[in-house]
Amino acid sequence: MEHLFYPGDNLAGLRRLAQLRIAADLVYIDPPFATNNEFLIDDDRANAISASGRPAYSDTVRGDAYLDALRQRLCAIRDVMSPAGSVYVHIDVKMEHHVRLLLDAVFGPQNFRNSITRIKCNPKNFDRYSYGNIKDTILFYSMSPQMITWHPQKEPLSDDEIARLYPFTDAAGRRYTTTPLHAPGVTASGATGQPWRGMEPPAGRHWRYPPAKLDALDAAGLIEWSSTGNPRKIRYASESAGKLPQDVWLYKDPQRPAYPTQKNARMLERIIRTSSNPGDTVLDCYAGSGGTLLTAARLGRRFVGMDNSPAAQQVIEQRLQGRRIAWQEIA
Ligand SMILES: C[S@@+](CC[C@H](N)C(=O)[O-])C[C@H]1O[C@@H](n2cnc3c(N)ncnc32)[C@H](O)[C@@H]1O
Repeated sequence: MEHLFYPGDNLAGLRRLAQLRIAADLVYIDPPFATNNEFLIDDDRANAISASGRPAYSDTVRGDAYLDALRQRLCAIRDVMSPAGSVYVHIDVKMEHHVRLLLDAVFGPQNFRNSITRIKCNPKNFDRYSYGNIKDTILFYSMSPQMITWHPQKEPLSDDEIARLYPFTDAAGRRYTTTPLHAPGVTASGATGQPWRGMEPPAGRHWRYPPAKLDALDAAGLIEWSSTGNPRKIRYASESAGKLPQDVWLYKDPQRPAYPTQKNARMLERIIRTSSNPGDTVLDCYAGSGGTLLTAARLGRRFVGMDNSPAAQQVIEQRLQGRRIAWQEIA
């Protein structure tokens, strides 16, 4: 599995990829947002505001020219996608509605999966006749509504959720809740329809487990008996598999980025783990600091990166070298 990088305009790079018949299983892109900024980089600062430093990349193309350039690249991405592939496009609140229309046109509205709100920074404390902007958006599309690589990554419950969902505490200080030991439906002849310790399951219901298993649960201290003799199964918070991720994500970007607008690596890890398999090809054709590439390689995926900025290429090269990750240039 050979990692690949194209150090030039991604439209040419994507067309080359198509010629080479290299398919992408997952695409994450974070293109310029038409902010009218010149992003600068120097040895210890990477941002848009500093007046010093060498150019990292220019984000000055706006309006129709911006949308037209992005549309061409989205079409070229579509042409290299594998059938079960997914595309994530990171965009800011000023451009998201324009870009969503483009994505609908290129990938089809039936393939829209999510508009993910990403909380990107701490609350802001300045007054600009508007609420502080602490979010941006990741638009998620697939190549087909049915055939999608999908491994949702469960998250641990928060302390508040544990307190709400597991309201009791046992003698050892463990949080737990209880659930009924019976379920709807009657089993005519099976063991779960029979009385257990002289108790019939309630009308129209059956025991969740056969009598031997109920005895074993009780012996293990996993049944709580109410004062009226009603048994309920104990479920500990520590055994929770966590919760399925929703469409609001909290992933703040690094305080001291290696490159301007560098995105949170844990966010990239979630996307890559959820929407690709080990051995798959992950494409980021606006690679910037190379975070997608590094994360993909660390998770056993093959990356294809592209960026036309010499500053980005230098940062990527340094970061990949530091991790001893070898790659080939796409010729
Ligand atoms: C917002 S930055 C990406 C930041 C990146 N996601 C990260 O976490 O570091 C956008 C990048 O796209 C690159 N870029 C813009 N237009 C490009 C083009 N036509 N071809 C290749 N790269 C391009 C810029 O050089 C810049 O590095």
